[in-house]
Amino acid sequence: MNEVLRAAAALRAGELVAFPTETVYGLGADASSPGAVAAIFAAKGRPADHPLIVHLPDAAHLSRWAREVPQVAYPLAAAFWPGPLTLILRRHPCVIDAITGGQDTVGLRVPNHPLALQLLREFDGGIAAPSANRFGHVSPTTAAHVRDEFGSSVSMVLDGGPCAVGIESTILDLSGETPRILRPGMLDATALAGILGSAPALGATAEAPRVSGSLESHYAPTTPLLLLGGAETESAAREMLDSGSRVAVYSPRAAAISHPRLVWGLAAADPARYAQELYARLREFDGLHCDVILVERPPPTEAWCAVIDRLTRAAAGAK
Ligand code: TXA
Ligand code: MG
Repeated sequence: MNEVLRAAAALRAGELVAFPTETVYGLGADASSPGAVAAIFAAKGRPADHPLIVHLPDAAHLSRWAREVPQVAYPLAAAFWPGPLTLILRRHPCVIDAITGGQDTVGLRVPNHPLALQLLREFDGGIAAPSANRFGHVSPTTAAHVRDEFGSSVSMVLDGGPCAVGIESTILDLSGETPRILRPGMLDATALAGILGSAPALGATAEAPRVSGSLESHYAPTTPLLLLGGAETESAAREMLDSGSRVAVYSPRAAAISHPRLVWGLAAADPARYAQELYARLREFDGLHCDVILVERPPPTEAWCAVIDRLTRAAAGAK
């Protein structure tokens, strides 16, 4: 039996299957099975009130999971699915509470990766999948990262190579009065505005559905990470080296200092490439056992918004 058929059979049997998407690897389970979904929370060490995204084979499945599908969802799906966009819609009554965290909404997306799509078509249902990392850790962008996170406790990992986008999907809430981005991703507000007709609101509100990635300390490496301005990065590195620390620097500029206790990682100058490499680089830096990772803050433009969001959380989490 080929791997995708085996993976679909494992999902039907209530088991967990890690699989690649274009954003990050997901830890999948049958979204209609309370037992299988409970196994995700147990494996990740994730609090039970954090909702999960349900992955679908195509937009035709939307009405099975959402009781109201606003008209604008269809042109959004036509424009961006399969792709790195999660839509928050009012849940269908048959969606189990473990998926929604007890909220009245559900997160849905069609991922753009051939293996994920094959698996979804073969399974022909919703696959609940958070990023395949332990709660609060850096998300995995290769199959090896997933194995590093879970070892043998997740028996099946489909290997689809490194993820092309590299950071999690844009989450767009369509359950309220106006469309709102709850989590920025590489699909940005301008692209969404092209279909919505006007710019979506930005950021969670007190009433907006909960997004666990919006906790301050998320996506964090184990090594403390500081996000600094360009000139600051170099002076901070010098100071820390002088005081005997092992220092990693992540900057788009060529190394300005050379020192036996310094690792200078050259960052991509282009946001798409930077995002694609980010989590793998953070894991690499962690593996070097430096005392600190100094990251040069990218420019505050829309193209860098999602990357800056993840870096800010990584810095908050690593304190
Ligand atoms: O790119 C992605 O979205 C990846 C891949 C695997 O698809 N998945 C992912 O899942 O990032 P996870 O669980 O690590 O993050 C999903 C986020 C969480 O912050 C969760 O709170 C939010 O989506 N979410 C899920 N359902 C929601 C809902 N009904 N309302 C508000 N937020 C929701
Ligand atoms: Mg996650």
